[in-house]
Amino acid sequence: MNFDLIIKGGTLADGRVADIGIHGGRIAAIEPHIDVDAGEVIDAAGDLVAPPFVDPHFHMDATLSYGTPRINASGTLLEGIGLWGELKPLLTHEAVKERALAYCDWAVSMGLLAIRTHVDTCDDRLLAVEALLDVKKTVAPYLDLQLVAFPQDGFYRDPTARENTVRALALGIDIVGGIPHFERTMEDGRRSVTELCEIAAERGLRVDMHCDETDDPLSRHIEQLAYETQRLGLQGRVNGSHLTSMHSMDNYYVSKLLPLMAEAEVSAVPNPLINIVLQGRHDSYPKRRGMTRVPEMLKAGIRVGFGQDCVLDPWYSLGTADMLDVAFMGLHVAQMTSPADMRRCFDMVTSENAAIMGLEAYGLAVGNIASLVVLDAGNPIEALRLRPDRLCVVSKGQVVSRKARNDSRLAIAGRPASVRRRHTAS
Ligand code: FE2
Repeated sequence: MNFDLIIKGGTLADGRVADIGIHGGRIAAIEPHIDVDAGEVIDAAGDLVAPPFVDPHFHMDATLSYGTPRINASGTLLEGIGLWGELKPLLTHEAVKERALAYCDWAVSMGLLAIRTHVDTCDDRLLAVEALLDVKKTVAPYLDLQLVAFPQDGFYRDPTARENTVRALALGIDIVGGIPHFERTMEDGRRSVTELCEIAAERGLRVDMHCDETDDPLSRHIEQLAYETQRLGLQGRVNGSHLTSMHSMDNYYVSKLLPLMAEAEVSAVPNPLINIVLQGRHDSYPKRRGMTRVPEMLKAGIRVGFGQDCVLDPWYSLGTADMLDVAFMGLHVAQMTSPADMRRCFDMVTSENAAIMGLEAYGLAVGNIASLVVLDAGNPIEALRLRPDRLCVVSKGQVVSRKARNDSRLAIAGRPASVRRRHTAS
């Protein structure tokens, strides 16, 4: 067989060195040596070849808007929502599209090839919805974009949110979102979870809900989300995002909640960069870190990923579309520092996030879609430590980004290897 592209001599996550042959947009062979003709051969020279990064939680309608019309002075979630409300009337279709496409370019250059983004539906014009539906079509050849109908100002709290969310789904938005902790009462939040899950079940859609993004230990909408998942037969199709209140919940209650989530097959996506910044803002000391209970959920058999959430927007003033930054912060805050846990954090921003998004034919195996990234690192743990250059990114069989190797070597005789690499556990 002739291949369109061969990635030669890359190190896979399990330590094997292999050539990867690509044909017709699919992985056609993974073997120790492939010595046949190919349209192009790229020498990975022992560098880590990984499946592409995946982000299951983002806000693409707000990204790259930092400072417009002003910055978030208090740093809180609520001021961020208020600030977004000031920005919303100023949005134009073209500006939203332009920012989103610029972000997609960043993402591709970082090897991030699938993103689930929430889109605010609390706007009678549905301007961001239409703009991101356009963006989804534009980037489809190289980036998988999933859109979540997200009633940012509250499904009941905003007078037209219900109608606009249903309209957005009719326009082609893929997933049903919500924000129960932003409703006026706990009861309204509970009812919103029920109704939104029913809307998803009627349409055969997945659910991804911002849930309990608060430091209130009594914010327990995740319980309702797991309950509705089971009642409506949505197992394996529902994700709870943030879940920060779990950080502050009573341990006994959590011991009852986690088995319910596992039974309902509800996955969880904390957003470590954002949770560490937004939560605990009303605390003095000790100051809560606000990230949900990641190791405990994993131990309970719950699927957990990590999301980026925000880059340069009303809620977060930094960010680079690098899922390794996200995993790096995640492993620190969750204290997942054993070699096995660090590898798991790498999996969380790749294969686990892909499973949460329901991506098909993902991963480095024969027959799967030929999307991969070559990193200037020797193994996943080294990649987490260095957050290195993405030397080559292949999406659906096409090379979509390349970067020259920056081989910073010590000018000392007898030290041939890069000084930054090869000193980590593998
Ligand atoms: Fe979010």
